[in-house]
Amino acid sequence: MEGDDLGTWVVKFTGAGQGPKSLVAEVVVGELARGLGLAVPELVVIDVDPDLGRTEPDQEVQELLRSSAGSNLGMDYLPGSITYDPLAFEVEPGLAARVVWLDAFTLNVDRSWRNPNLLVWGGRLWLIDHGAALYPHHDWAGIDAAVERSVPGISDHVLLPVLGARAPELLAAADAELAPAVTAALLGGVVDLVPGEWTDAPGTAYVEWLLARVSGRRPWLEELLVPAAALGSERAGGGARGARRSERPDWLRGGRGA
Ligand SMILES: Nc1ncnc2c1ncn2[C@@H]1O[C@H](COP(=O)(O)OP(=O)(O)O)[C@@H](O)[C@H]1O
Ligand SMILES: [Mg+2]
Repeated sequence: MEGDDLGTWVVKFTGAGQGPKSLVAEVVVGELARGLGLAVPELVVIDVDPDLGRTEPDQEVQELLRSSAGSNLGMDYLPGSITYDPLAFEVEPGLAARVVWLDAFTLNVDRSWRNPNLLVWGGRLWLIDHGAALYPHHDWAGIDAAVERSVPGISDHVLLPVLGARAPELLAAADAELAPAVTAALLGGVVDLVPGEWTDAPGTAYVEWLLARVSGRRPWLEELLVPAAALGSERAGGGARGARRSERPDWLRGGRGA
């Protein structure tokens, strides 16, 4: 959509099937990633005038606009960007490790090699689409049980093969760098950006939950290091250059869909 600032924005609507909580995850994880030094296109709140729907010929879009009056999520549109392809773009292994760590920490199941949700633009890797992350927030009653939960399907992560034989060492380094940076101040600033009408849960609940996940016992990190070590032994001696789909070890093939 074109905004009244004349910018072009990819808009995700509160009235869409995934519901407003997926927009909460987009903002919390997107801004957390940015705070940790990863590249995420600018995120803004877009006020949608329901009257826009009156001139929209497609009835489905008409209804979407009508049910999305008010605050919606806009992401800066990166013109000419392309979806990350391991065969076409080389990612620095340290960066790959930081992205894998972020996805394990935030329970983001949506960065598989089938569906990378990574864009290449201006010679850099950009992280998009964090709507499926933080999924335990759809059920706050069970949130405490999810403090130590591991992200399912991490072995399908599109950037895991980039780590190669150095995976355990690179992930440990990413953890040593990023975990201390996930502070109450950073998280507090991030949740403050979420429009109040998108969720009943207070921002402090997100801050406390994510702080609990990043400190203390962290089985989600230990479990991340298991496939990483397997990858390391599979690829030992093979070097740690960019991922090659044809080189995917057996245990990485035929995983879950995205
Ligand atoms: N900021 C952006 N700039 C350019 N293209 C984008 C941007 N955000 C999304 N896209 C394109 O739209 C597709 C779908 O966006 P995504 O955020 O992944 O939504 P979905 O929840 O539908 O998967 C992406 O795979 C990408 O091709
Ligand atoms: Mg997507």
